[in-house]
Order: sequence, then C-alpha cells, then structure tokens
Amino acid sequence: SDPDPLQDFCVADLKAPISVNGFPCKPAAAVTSDDFFFDGFTKEGNTTNIFGWSVTPANVLAFPGLNTLGISMNRVDFAPGGLNPPHSHPRATETGVVIKGKLLVGFVTTSNVFYSKVMTAGQMFVVPRGLVHFQLNVGEGKALLFTAFNSHLPGSAVVPTTLFASSPSIPVEVLTKAFQVDKATIDIIKSKFGS
Ligand code: GLV
Ligand code: MN
Repeated sequence: SDPDPLQDFCVADLKAPISVNGFPCKPAAAVTSDDFFFDGFTKEGNTTNIFGWSVTPANVLAFPGLNTLGISMNRVDFAPGGLNPPHSHPRATETGVVIKGKLLVGFVTTSNVFYSKVMTAGQMFVVPRGLVHFQLNVGEGKALLFTAFNSHLPGSAVVPTTLFASSPSIPVEVLTKAFQVDKATIDIIKSKFGS
C-alpha cells in the first residue's frame, strides 16, 4: 500500500542527511547489481529466545533496493513450539507460504472474530492490513515460513512487548485497568521481558 514509484528504481540512501517520507535515492551511477539482490535469507535465524522464533526482515532497511517499490519479505524460523507473538503491521497486508513444518496461523478482526488454520508446506495465507496475527509451531520439529508485504517497510507492533516492555513503561494503572488484574500480575508479566 506504499505510494507508486515515479521511476524504475530509487535504491535507498539510508545515510542521507535529510529526512523525507521514505528514503532518498542513491545516485544512479552508484547503483550496482548488488543493490537488487539480497543474501540474508540463506541462513536459519537464531530462535534461542523466550518465544522460540526468529524474523529476518528483507525490508528497505536491510535491502535498500526495495525503496519506493511497495514490497518486502520476511524469513521466519520457528523452534519446536516456537511462537511468532501476536503483532500487527500498520502499513501492509501480509501473505505467507509455509515452507517446512506445521504452523497454526491466525488473525483477529476489528470485530474480535478469530480466523485460523493449521498449515503445512506449500500452503499460503493472507492477513489483512493492520490486523493482529500470530503463528505457532504445532509440529514435531522446526518450521520455516516466508512472508511478503505490500510495503517496503510494513512496521510491526508486537502486542506483548508494546504493552509490557515499552520505554518508558506505560503507567501501571493503565495496564491493571485494561486487563482487570492487580499490579503484582502486571509486574510478573513485565519481568518476563526484563522490564
Ligand atoms: C509474520 O507474521 C511476519 O510478520 O513475517
Ligand atoms: Mn506479521
């Protein structure tokens, strides 16, 4: 859903000293083949973390050749039992194809309807722009997923860390009221994220 490009390409100059809505273009004479190819998906991500998952983004920041083209991808690795925690992308609809393993894929609408399916290799899903979604590895071994977005920088608001690991913290009375629990319960959750 990014704006349409006005030229063939505009390889991002990530270090440009000016700020625009996006990134300015590297001078065309400085553009090489390497600007249009990305190696970052060849290796499995490190899933040694509390969620047992890893996202390797190929967005405009990692792959500047995507600048202004309205497209990007992620590689998502899952340890057994791993979870890509509930999150939403403010600037993109997401599609994904499961490459390996078995994933419970789901999203919730703004009317609180939950849609989900257990998916295996070759199956594809879509998550409408902005809706909260997750994937849980429900297979025996590891799982691998590739996702694609109609934005060069979809953004990701991860629900648990947005609420419980922001800096500075959200006032505790917001969280106790929002979840209808006491401060001790909020403190336990926060401690899981080291905050
Ligand atoms: C999966 O939900 C992803 O954002 O790559
Ligand atoms: Mn996502």
